[in-house]
Amino acid sequence: MKSAWVVPPTLKIGGELQVPGDKSVSHRSLMLGGLADGLTEISGFLASEDCLATLGALRALGVGIERPEPTQVRVHGVGLHGLRAPAAPLDMGNAGTAMRLFMGLLAWRPFDSTLIGDSSLMRRPMERAAAPLRLMGASIETREGRPPVLIRGGCALRGIDYAMPVASAQVKSAVLLAALGAEGVTTVTEPAPTRDHTERMLAGFGVEIERRGATVALRGGQRLRAARVRVPADFSSAAFFLVAGLIGTGSGLTLRRVGINPTRTGLLDMLRLMGGDIRVTPVEPDSAEPLADIEVRPSRLRGIEVPEALVPLAIDEFPVFFIAAACADGVTVVRGAEELRVKESDRLAVMSDGLRALGVEHELLPDGMRIQGRPEGSAFDAGAIDSHGDHRVAMAFAIASLRAAGPLEIDDTANVATSFPGFAPLARSIGFEIRERGG
Ligand code: S3P
Repeated sequence: MKSAWVVPPTLKIGGELQVPGDKSVSHRSLMLGGLADGLTEISGFLASEDCLATLGALRALGVGIERPEPTQVRVHGVGLHGLRAPAAPLDMGNAGTAMRLFMGLLAWRPFDSTLIGDSSLMRRPMERAAAPLRLMGASIETREGRPPVLIRGGCALRGIDYAMPVASAQVKSAVLLAALGAEGVTTVTEPAPTRDHTERMLAGFGVEIERRGATVALRGGQRLRAARVRVPADFSSAAFFLVAGLIGTGSGLTLRRVGINPTRTGLLDMLRLMGGDIRVTPVEPDSAEPLADIEVRPSRLRGIEVPEALVPLAIDEFPVFFIAAACADGVTVVRGAEELRVKESDRLAVMSDGLRALGVEHELLPDGMRIQGRPEGSAFDAGAIDSHGDHRVAMAFAIASLRAAGPLEIDDTANVATSFPGFAPLARSIGFEIRERGG
């Protein structure tokens, strides 16, 4: 039987919490550490299934990695050209980030490699990363655009000027990682700002990388110097509790040391536009990634039209944002979010099915959703939801229990461990009553 949660209505929440490390930063710290010269020490690492897939793949490529504690990692870098041929296909599990970034890292090796993943990842589009890498001279095959991805060794890459057709940090990062092994300068131009963790971290490893407006430029052949990386708490994991603190009753919540990189915090802007009571107090001003304590208090939210410019800056937060919208006064409209259809699930379709099962009036659009909120009393009926193995869908509906008329049954929750192991116990510690069913 698939694992599932039963979540009775949550009455009151309150307290302080620290969510685990950032997934995007954790993947990148392992990869750059592996390519660097010397010992990279990572603290606050996210010990989730996705990041452990990256860790396992790097070990299979010959990188020595120790974990003295679950969140402490020591990576013995093998240098720019030191990766060795893996003995078997590299399994990325559920992690789209791992697969696309490894495509960039492996495109310029002397050996072949094959990338595979779980049933969700095997359905996701990989041509968006393969296409620019081929322009650089790589030889990459996908199966009708999807994994398995076969990367042929022995290709010499050259720098290109690439204007990305989609706003994707994974594609940008794949091209930048390939640029490290390419002859000459590569530039990548994004149609809208996307998360810039790769650029920041490359700079932290001593690589000269230049940003001019929407374009980043990197010269190939630069060696990486091992570094210390402190991974911030993941804003995307904090997002569930930010919404919880706003739509719930109780004293509100305080989240400690959360990463507030401006390319990640579109949700804060959206919730503020809705009237959310949110206080952000920056801490440790000189860290590579900006950090803050964030306080949220119960608020009467108003429906909004989400500015399209905020969509890429909040791309992973829409499942829980739709839950906030269902509790708001009036209508909320999201457009320009068709990327949600190619995430761990089709997040527009899967969220729409779940909202319908809980009696939320809404319209599914090709590129978004229109949601009629219910600000008084219960916003959600009791009911059963299938998360389709999507971690963020499962966690979003657990948050909905704060405004539910009866118990919510959430199916297929095992993948919560891909990004947020410990979500259920942490949620229990502030007042949720998540019960496990099956396993
Ligand atoms: C990520 C980029 C985003 C995001 C994903 C993580 C990254 O994907 O949705 O969860 O770490 O670069 P896209 O690049 O497809 O937008």
